[in-house]
Amino acid sequence: FAAFVAVIGGLAVHAWTTRAVDTTGRVAFDTPLRIPPVETGTVDADGTRVFDLTMQRGTSDLGHGPGTRTWGVNGDHLGPTLRAERGEKVRVNVTNALGETSSMHWHGMRLPAAMDGGPHQPIEPDTTWSPYWTVDQPAATLWYHPHLHGSTAAHVYRGVAGMFLVDEPGAPPLPHDYGVDDVPVIVQDKRFDGDQFAEDDAMFSDVGLLGDEILVNGTPRPFLEVGTEAVRLRVLNASNARVYDFSFDTGMPFLLVGSDGGLLEQPRPIRSIQLSPGERAEIVVRPEPGSRHVLRSTPPDLRSDFWQDRFSGGDDRIDVLELRVAADLAPSPAIPEQLTTLPELGDPTGTREVELTSSSTIDGREMDMSRIDQVVVAGSTELWEVRNASGTIHNFHIHDTQFEIVDVTGMHPDHPSLAGRKDTVFLPPGATARLLVPFGRHPDPQMPYMYHCHLLKHEDNGMMGQFVVVGAEHIDEVTGTVGTDH
Ligand code: C2O
Ligand code: CU
Repeated sequence: FAAFVAVIGGLAVHAWTTRAVDTTGRVAFDTPLRIPPVETGTVDADGTRVFDLTMQRGTSDLGHGPGTRTWGVNGDHLGPTLRAERGEKVRVNVTNALGETSSMHWHGMRLPAAMDGGPHQPIEPDTTWSPYWTVDQPAATLWYHPHLHGSTAAHVYRGVAGMFLVDEPGAPPLPHDYGVDDVPVIVQDKRFDGDQFAEDDAMFSDVGLLGDEILVNGTPRPFLEVGTEAVRLRVLNASNARVYDFSFDTGMPFLLVGSDGGLLEQPRPIRSIQLSPGERAEIVVRPEPGSRHVLRSTPPDLRSDFWQDRFSGGDDRIDVLELRVAADLAPSPAIPEQLTTLPELGDPTGTREVELTSSSTIDGREMDMSRIDQVVVAGSTELWEVRNASGTIHNFHIHDTQFEIVDVTGMHPDHPSLAGRKDTVFLPPGATARLLVPFGRHPDPQMPYMYHCHLLKHEDNGMMGQFVVVGAEHIDEVTGTVGTDH
């Protein structure tokens, strides 16, 4: 497996290489896709759905022998898929058995800042943190992962991550038989050093570790047996830095039915979908009986030769998952033409400009947990103009919201990766994203939410800011600092 190593500007950069290739040069898909167990919790006397999660260490066989040290939630690697319905009260008891401080964040969830699980809610070793909130947003594919400042990249990379599905009564008839025709596809790139995860990212690139192997739901070389006419894949890019542009090797078209914040109003027929770290896409495929298709990634348009090269490493594709379609398929319902109606966000109350200024700064500043960078009014909608003024790639994620992407310079407005309600947007060098951001209704002048680059090394480097949501009457009272209360 000839990994070539180029040294550019002092950075040693490993090209993409694939292991276990068959004679056609493709990945030999030989392992059934693991399906994370679904966890619906228990409902206590007052109607609250209660989940018990333990962050723990373990070992896993990820194709390099049984002894790869991994982290997981309620298991050796990755975590269960949590499910709750819109309107339900939930509580999650998160116990930290990792032996070091971590946290647990509910990515894409709208909830009070004190429950958000960001850097201000650390979970010390051998303690349990029990956030609670009411699920109050449309059906969506959300996810959870640690968010301790400075450690997020390592903790996610080792395997603390899982999906959190919000269900909604009255959902349209999309495939919904979990693990059968409604399948989580958590895509992560890894690099191995012997039988262990390589962790030293310094040599790889400014964005952190770029792996040379793909795991889907922690499965190396995965295939999925398809037995229904239609299958919904809930694709989550849970990689630390890699941006994918997913398509099928056969050119099979598919329907984009949902993005970060939930369903699109209408399904969109497409052939490829780009996802940067943190982003999700729900797609529905209708493959021919007896056919096979490889979900693969071709290099996305990064608008930078330097990064284009780093991401593709000279290869034109990264094989991700094989679909093996049975000859006889159980019938699936037709996908309706209207999936949902998204509420109007209304006119913005103002415009805020944010500049991504380096790989460790936003608006020229590194993250400071005691500094409030933005104060917004509860329930307001603002236009955020986020400009990538640095020479490198980034994306931009805002907590406690699902925004509308008005446009991104250089991208067609119909680009599928801009569709629907979003919590994360990709920003190639030089691009400006205009976002219509509806802020939450949980004012707390003391407890900030985060906005940051979701390339986890950048986030850990300090490429993160803090905003507080306050009642309109308090907008002038908030000072630029918060107590660090832990
Ligand atoms: Cu998925 Cu602030 O993160
Ligand atoms: Cu970044």
